[in-house]
Order: sequence, then C-alpha cells, then structure tokens
Amino acid sequence: MHNSISAIDKPGSNTSLRVDGARLLDRLDRLAEIGGSEDGGVTRMGFSEADQEARAHVARQAADAGLETTVDAGGNLLIRRPGDHHSSRRPPVLVGSHLDTVANGGRLDGAYGVLAALEVLQTLNEAGAETGCEIIAIAFANEEGALFPQPFWGSMVVAGRLDALPTEPEDYSGKPLRDALARAGGDLSHLRSATWAPGSLTAYLELHVEQGPVLERLGRSIGVVDSITGRTQLSVQVHGRAGHAGTTPMEGRQDPLVVAAQLILAVQDLAREEKLCRVATVGRLDVQPNSPNTVPDVVRLDIDFRDSDPARLSTAEETVREALASLARRGNVRVSVQTAVRTAPVQTNLRLREVISASAAELGLSQETLPSGAGHDAQIVADVAPIGMIFVPSIDGVSHVPSERTAPEDLIAGADVLLRTVMRI
Ligand code: GLV
Ligand code: MN
Ligand code: MN
Repeated sequence: MHNSISAIDKPGSNTSLRVDGARLLDRLDRLAEIGGSEDGGVTRMGFSEADQEARAHVARQAADAGLETTVDAGGNLLIRRPGDHHSSRRPPVLVGSHLDTVANGGRLDGAYGVLAALEVLQTLNEAGAETGCEIIAIAFANEEGALFPQPFWGSMVVAGRLDALPTEPEDYSGKPLRDALARAGGDLSHLRSATWAPGSLTAYLELHVEQGPVLERLGRSIGVVDSITGRTQLSVQVHGRAGHAGTTPMEGRQDPLVVAAQLILAVQDLAREEKLCRVATVGRLDVQPNSPNTVPDVVRLDIDFRDSDPARLSTAEETVREALASLARRGNVRVSVQTAVRTAPVQTNLRLREVISASAAELGLSQETLPSGAGHDAQIVADVAPIGMIFVPSIDGVSHVPSERTAPEDLIAGADVLLRTVMRI
C-alpha cells in the first residue's frame, strides 16, 4: 500500500500555481458566521442545525465553483472535479477535515482543512491542472462528538470501523442519530456503502491548525506531523438515589455527584500525580435533576485521556476503571461505563512527510516536524490509507476556545503547501 506514493513529480512542474488566498480567507470568515457568537466562538456541533447549514453552505460554494458534491451514507460531504476520471489506475487522494465544532469552539479547527481542500480543488480545476490521480475533498461528519458522543463518526465509517460504532447512536438527550443523519443526506442502514477498503486510496491528507504552541514558539510557518496521539474516551454514568436536600440524612446517602467529584480528582491524578498518561480531562458533566435542593439522581461524565504509548493508555484505563469501582462501592452507587472512542497512536506516512517537507521548502517556508496532541480524522483513516498531516501555527497555542486564531499569511501558506503536496503525489 505504501509504495503507491513512490511517484513524486519533478520539482519545477507547475510550481507557480498558488491558491487564491483572499478567497480562502473570505470563505473562512463567512463560514465562521454559521453558529458564530459575539465573542468570536463557533458552536456547530455535529449534526446540529448549524452544522447542517454549514455543510449546505460549503456544498453550495463547491457547486458555484463548478465542482460536484455528494453525501455518503455516513453523512460525509465529498467534493470532486467534474470528469476527473484518470487514465492512471492509481486510486484517489482524499483531502479534508471536519466542519463540526465543540461547544463554543474556534473558527479554524476543522473548517480550515475543509475550506483549504475546496480551495485546492478549485485552484486545480480553474488551472485545468493534471494530477497523478483523482483528488477528492471531504468534510468528515461529527469529528468532535460534541452533541452525538461518537467522535470521529464520519472517518470511522470511511475506515470501515462499523463494529466500533453503536448500532442506534443517540445524542446526549437521547435523540436518534438515524434521523439527524438522514436530514444530512446519510443513511444509517447503509453505512457499509461509505467505507473505503484498505488500498483503495493513494493517500489521505489533512491540513489543520496546530492547536498548540510549538510552531509559534519556534517561529516556523509549517508543521510536518509525524504522529498523532492515542486517545481513550469513556462515558460514565453514576446512578445514586435522589432525595430532599433538607431531610435526607447524611448517613446513608447515595449521592452520585459526590462520587463523580472524587472521580474527577482521580482522573486528574492519573496524569498529574501518577503520570500514567500525558493528559487526562473531564470536560463534560450532566447532573440530574440538577436542582439546588435535591440530592442528585444520576450523573454522567466523560473522561478523555491521551498518550503516545498504547500500553500506557491501557494501564491508565485499567486504573480509572478500578478507581471508579472502588469509589462506587464506598459511595454506595451503581456505575456503568461505555467506551466512546479508543484510538491507538498512529505514525504518519514517511514518504508523505517527505513530500510535505519538500513542498514547504520549495515555497521557501520554514518548517518543523512535530507530533499532534489533538485527535484528527487522519488517525482513523490511517487504517485504510497512508496519511499525511500539515500544521500551521496557532496564535498563543490555543484551540477549542473562541480566541483560536492563525495569522492570515500562515493560513494561505498552509493551503499552498497542501496544493503543492497534492500535485507532487
Ligand atoms: C479533537 O478535536 C480532539 O479532541 O482532539
Ligand atoms: Mn477539535
Ligand atoms: Mn479538528
């Protein structure tokens, strides 16, 4: 599979071709208005109304640019050049990212990679440029899992990891994914039709903001990603017994929120004290009935921990599960745990790294090789295709917050590197 990337074009061919930077920046501004709030944040959770609107908006822009769009059964938006039927038998290159966001997240996480992929396709199309194989842009559905807690939904479908997905997924409030997916143009009963077999793609490329401080600190414009962190996300439900805050004696209470609080501290210790994994976070807590004078009934919390070593991830998971069982016994509550996601750390393809690096060098851009501490659809697509990832610097290294920003010249440079990389493959 990997030697399918052996053909690098001759440097010098079409080197003058550049993306339309102003058009890319304008599209980023317009997309940020969908689900945008006054503080500059964007809330476009996967399969929400804002997400549907964003997908329709991008599909319209692609159609206006003379490109063809389809939605696969998993709800992924695919964009192609018309009549891009290659005489070469090399399978397509997929290029993209995601349009959904976390709650009150940034304007670039995911959106940048999709709009840059669209920009690359449009640039190639307008120039009538030949590529070594078909280039397909893709916006993966529900990468974040902010509303429907199935992160990497679209890429899991593409990679054929259907066994790891719930059969009838629901959002946090119990609404079925089946309906939301159908509204997006997908079909839960035919997910298999959206999968790509191993070897059926020449490569997958993803351009993304770094979301961390490394490139900015080093003063580099381009990051060549060498690996993506492993991640385990557990969804925990703690069932206690509701009661009156004024009359239920302290003795014998079954308070799930107290157990959840202890668990949150144990999760922090996992990374901070015990150093069993690189980072560990509880970012979401649901308390029912969430009333100031009622002992809660049920608490749901999501635990996210990450490391570049799968063995350490397993140990960390075991430790969390043991801590939870012991806290539940002490608090006299019942707990259930579901794995929302379990992804191994992955390496990007060495050959693709070289192509990205050569593309950046050809454009006279400074570069650094670095790992990704955030998760990306690329790590899932890695099951079926060689992957390559390009980063651009994040101002102040922040992401998943409204102040997420990247300098305009870096955004344009990243898209140009993506264009050159696509042309070199
Ligand atoms: C994806 O945004 C992640 O949580 O890393
Ligand atoms: Mn994200
Ligand atoms: Mn992202």
